Amino acid sequence: MPVVRYCGAAFEAAPGEAVLDTLLRNGVIVPNSCRAGVCQSCLLRAAEGAVPDDSRRGLGAALVEQGYFLSCVCRPSGDLAVEPAGGLETPATIAELDRLSPTVIRVRLRMAEPLVYRAGQYITLHRADGLARSYSLASLPGEDTLELHVRRAPQGKMSGWLFDQARAGEPVSIRGPAGACFYTAGRPEQPLLLAGTGTGLAPLIGICRDALRTGHTGPVHLYHGALRPDGLYLADVLRALAAGHSAFHYHPVVLEGDEASGALVGALDKTVVNRHPKLAGWRGFVCGDPSIVRLLQKKLFLAGMASSDIAADAFVEAPAP
Ligand SMILES: Cc1cc2nc3c(=O)[nH]c(=O)nc-3n(C[C@H](O)[C@H](O)[C@H](O)COP(=O)(O)OP(=O)(O)OC[C@H]3O[C@@H](n4cnc5c(N)ncnc54)[C@H](O)[C@@H]3O)c2cc1C
Ligand code: FES
Repeated sequence: MPVVRYCGAAFEAAPGEAVLDTLLRNGVIVPNSCRAGVCQSCLLRAAEGAVPDDSRRGLGAALVEQGYFLSCVCRPSGDLAVEPAGGLETPATIAELDRLSPTVIRVRLRMAEPLVYRAGQYITLHRADGLARSYSLASLPGEDTLELHVRRAPQGKMSGWLFDQARAGEPVSIRGPAGACFYTAGRPEQPLLLAGTGTGLAPLIGICRDALRTGHTGPVHLYHGALRPDGLYLADVLRALAAGHSAFHYHPVVLEGDEASGALVGALDKTVVNRHPKLAGWRGFVCGDPSIVRLLQKKLFLAGMASSDIAADAFVEAPAP
């Protein structure tokens, strides 16, 4: 069986076991969340030995070159010496926390040095004790603070802390940015369709604002889904954005409620394709709950959108204990 060496200790991996599981099983603390190769919180560096290609999927070229890999999906075929991912975090401070709805809080972070990113990418937020979770960026590069929208997960460690204990001035750090869900210029006339539920709105707002300020001329349709009207946060901001840009169209959608609330009523995926049955030539962005993201990806593709034109970020959470 492969041996995983870490900070002077050696641990034998069980058959088919991921490096993260070998280390956790032996009491080594490694930050982690999704356990599915998506959030990048479990990053480690291989000092010796080879790691499989799929454990480097989604990492930037600079990280790959330095030997970084995602330990939750790395099942080594030979011995490996690994190190913690040090020096990749940038210090930040919580600048502001404000509730956008009963279950969503906006977190503004002030960086010690400016972050180079694209609106819609995500960062990994590290609490001082090492707890790490990924959040998408609703802000635009050049703004004073990074803006995150965090949903309260029942018994969630990071979201519970942000809702109940964290205060402005609290030091944290961030790693990233990562992800490829962002606007790219070059086809300003192309119609855009953005859809997501809950805090899936965070990257979508960033992407819309980025497209509009870059001079996008084609129609931009943003669908935000929630269970009930009280889940449709930032609706006034989005209505104001639509009033100021004739190309931008905001469509709130609720599963339960009536149209008197100003929202469309129905399932988000069905509402989108009923209103846009032909999507050939469009570009799509879908973010948020993983099962709805998968459904939307499929429906947009079946309506004619090229798969290469669909960018997606599934907010995969840690498996419940
Ligand atoms: C690329 C990416 C982008 C993301 N962007 C965002 C974003 O913009 N906004 C956002 O809100 N989230 C986002 N997420 C999800 C986010 O990273 C966290 O997973 C989420 O905030 C939950 O973290 P937590 O520490 O609060 O919950 P955790 O403590 O990690 O709990 C995880 C899950 O287990 C459940 N759970 C925990 N303890 C128990 C228990 N004792 N019994 C039963 N169930 C339990 C929780 O309810 C939750 O569903 C993103 C994820 C990814 C991968
Ligand atoms: S990528 Fe490994 S825990 Fe999320």
